[in-house]
Amino acid sequence: MSLPLPDAQALVLSRALTQRIAEDIAQQGGWIGFDAFMHRVLYEPGLGYYAGPMRKFGAQGDFVTAPELSPLFARCLAEQVSQWFGQAEPVVVEFGAGSGRLAAGLLDALHELGTPARSYLIVEVSASLRERQRETIAQLAPDRIGVVQWLDTLPAQIDGVVIGNELLDAMPVRVFEIDAGGLHEVGVSMIEDDSFDWATRAADTVLTEAVTKTLGDLPHQSPSESSLEPVDTGYGSSGRYRSEIGLQGQAWVETVGRALGRGAMLLIDYGFSAREYYHPQRDQGTLVAHFRHRVHTDVFHLPGLQDVTAHVDFSAIARAGATAGLDLLGYTSQSRWLINCGLLDRLAALTSPAQAGEQGAAAAIEAARMVGAAQTLLSEAEMGELFKVIAFGRGLTDDALGFGRGDRRGTL
Ligand SMILES: C[S@@+](CC[C@H](N)C(=O)[O-])C[C@H]1O[C@@H](n2cnc3c(N)ncnc32)[C@H](O)[C@@H]1O
Repeated sequence: MSLPLPDAQALVLSRALTQRIAEDIAQQGGWIGFDAFMHRVLYEPGLGYYAGPMRKFGAQGDFVTAPELSPLFARCLAEQVSQWFGQAEPVVVEFGAGSGRLAAGLLDALHELGTPARSYLIVEVSASLRERQRETIAQLAPDRIGVVQWLDTLPAQIDGVVIGNELLDAMPVRVFEIDAGGLHEVGVSMIEDDSFDWATRAADTVLTEAVTKTLGDLPHQSPSESSLEPVDTGYGSSGRYRSEIGLQGQAWVETVGRALGRGAMLLIDYGFSAREYYHPQRDQGTLVAHFRHRVHTDVFHLPGLQDVTAHVDFSAIARAGATAGLDLLGYTSQSRWLINCGLLDRLAALTSPAQAGEQGAAAAIEAARMVGAAQTLLSEAEMGELFKVIAFGRGLTDDALGFGRGDRRGTL
């Protein structure tokens, strides 16, 4: 795939980051794990994709997320959060708030529903995004900015509702391969001074145990605890099976889950159950890069200038929540969750002919745009089926609005 060329200033930043990672690889004896590489290309201060100055979200960025696409997404989320505010403190903790658009929309919608947030806490690892979030909320929801605060560290106790949209996919993953020789970890080495390449080494105990547990739990194969025997498992029997495992995302769910007192945690992301994620035919994993609205698999291209991401194994996320002692409140597709939260009714009200007739052509154009965006959120071919929503709770009733119909907890 031919990718657009970045400008000269961006190339300078990317070369500086490449240099830093190359020095790190040399210091570590010629190899670093892919999780270490992914951490640096995304979060290296001043140079990483999320830590650098480039615009990431929206039409001028590299990808569009649901809250950027339509205000209806925040509105639907508000219905769910409002229900939970009836049983928990009216506090939202948003992790990885991106441009701040979801926060602005959610704050306004909660206010309109008569269940305003008393406090809206944002945990964001990127300093440049914090600034952008502050600007967005001040511009789109100026009356609500007074309740927003940015936290430097994870709160020791959270009472309220935790949310994260496309958060887990941005957390570094470890890459593994299974072939006739067994299990290996796939990491990164240098081929020239300025060019990265894949390189394998023996898997350590942590990775071996995690992969054995993950694949061993699946019904379509049964690797022996000790050998990950490729012929028996279907993994690597006809070549190399490569995939990744999101141990950092799982650890994050456990940590935040333990901090959750009375309240809920809702996570939205692209991914599947382990059975689909680790299907033997998905033998190249799910790792991809996003650059100017193109999705491609060269994750070493222009470090720091493109997003690098992996899908989420929601079975592992469900397990992590259970380990933290949380109740699983639901798991379903984004389209089902949005419909359960009233998206179609809201859309009909906003785009009714009476409304368009009263306000003229501009309203009709806006209505058509809203319908188009809702189609992208719901369509099976776009975000509706690939994106999933999972919710956990502590001390809440098991009747979360978004999972009233089409709950797929049983598939995890
Ligand atoms: C793909 S973006 C999604 C942004 C936004 N939620 C949206 O939907 O538009 C991922 C975000 O997660 C942030 N992030 C990644 N790891 C994080 C962590 N451990 N804690 C808080 N934020 C994190 C990134 O800096 C970035 O803002």
